[in-house]
Amino acid sequence: MEPKIEELKAKLKKYGQEHLLNGYDKLDDKHKHELIKQIEDIDFELINKLYEDTKKKPKTNEDKITPIEYLDKYKLGDKYKYYENIGKKAIKEGKLAAVTMAGGQGTRLGHTGPKGTFDIGLDSHKSLFELLCDNLKEEGKKYDVIIPWFIMTSRENNAATIEFFEKHKYFGYQKDKNLFFFEQGELPMVDTEGKILIGEDGLIKEAADGHGGIYESLVKSGMTKRMRNMGIEWVFIGGVDNCLVKMVDPVLMGIAIDKNVTVACKSVVKANPHEKVGVFCKRNGRPNVIEYSEITDEMAEARDEDGELLYGESHILCNLFKVDAIERMGAEPLPYHVAFKKAKYIDKDGKLVVPDSPNAYKFEAFLFDAFGEVDEMAILRVKREEEFAPVKNADSAGVDCPSTARELYKNFKLKNK
Ligand code: UTP
Repeated sequence: MEPKIEELKAKLKKYGQEHLLNGYDKLDDKHKHELIKQIEDIDFELINKLYEDTKKKPKTNEDKITPIEYLDKYKLGDKYKYYENIGKKAIKEGKLAAVTMAGGQGTRLGHTGPKGTFDIGLDSHKSLFELLCDNLKEEGKKYDVIIPWFIMTSRENNAATIEFFEKHKYFGYQKDKNLFFFEQGELPMVDTEGKILIGEDGLIKEAADGHGGIYESLVKSGMTKRMRNMGIEWVFIGGVDNCLVKMVDPVLMGIAIDKNVTVACKSVVKANPHEKVGVFCKRNGRPNVIEYSEITDEMAEARDEDGELLYGESHILCNLFKVDAIERMGAEPLPYHVAFKKAKYIDKDGKLVVPDSPNAYKFEAFLFDAFGEVDEMAILRVKREEEFAPVKNADSAGVDCPSTARELYKNFKLKNK
């Protein structure tokens, strides 16, 4: 062990991170081993660069943003059935799997435990995971298949997630047969001086690397290989926090197959031109999502000759990918976005610091930053009341919260009895 420590010390010195081994001697063997592994795995060049970037002024955006074409699911006319039949055939052939991204921290919601275990307050008291699973089972029945389900967790919530599923007998699914868990990647958090933080457990304080980590994690964890072995060609990737997410959609799939694209996304039209959501666009000629903060008022309000907003298709984390697109996207690094967060840490004197204001940078990749990898994608506008009931905030926020999601869910069920 000792020669390795000397080697690591030299590496840490090079990057000004020697403090990471300050508490090493006080750790038990298991934690010593874990800390060493963490240090070995960190890409210090990347962390340095990400930290340096936090000091730079955001560069003025010179990207060329233009509108992107979309289809409206309810204006497809005869084509609706045509696409639906193509999709139905592929689903029946077992070519579709669902991935649920459940690695987020759910800080805004403030629920202790994985967000998927949250009960939105229905009479059934079903958790988000169970609501999603109900939908998968119901859809699978229509096509006489079991839709394989892959769940992305984080190191922080993996054990609690699996325990929850075990307790509920996997909601009728079978672990390692048609239900799979895999962990997403993490990046260390750094303070305002660029020093990597040590957490209460004496280990490096790492945070999930954002939903953009999905592609790399699916590949690295061997899930894409598994999908191929299972004959899966298409993968719906959605969040855990939309209780109306429709993961099995033959029309979306039929469009992707017919148009020969490897990515097909769903959108809902913005509630108003200034709604704070990211919208689909083309960036320098390639598919992308533009954040509300990046768009001018003039662009936000611009309409086409039919009166539709030019930038009105909100990205709702409902995206369908061909397995090979995931593999290509997983091979290319995505840009990281920075968030300034509150993070408890152990200082250089070994004392626990509990900050009352943000003190640390967290780096996250966004799933849609990979969209530019494809030349063309299909976008299908669906109805908000049918497919989008997000649970982001606590009820006190009044929007995208348990009570609003519950109402949307109940209304949808009532209408579709
Ligand atoms: P959000 O960023 O909207 O929610 O993620 P969050 O991370 O759960 O909550 P906040 O931002 O801390 O309040 C949207 C979806 O992406 C998943 C989330 O679990 C959710 O389903 N996600 C997000 C991940 O799986 N990993 C991440 O690192 C981030």
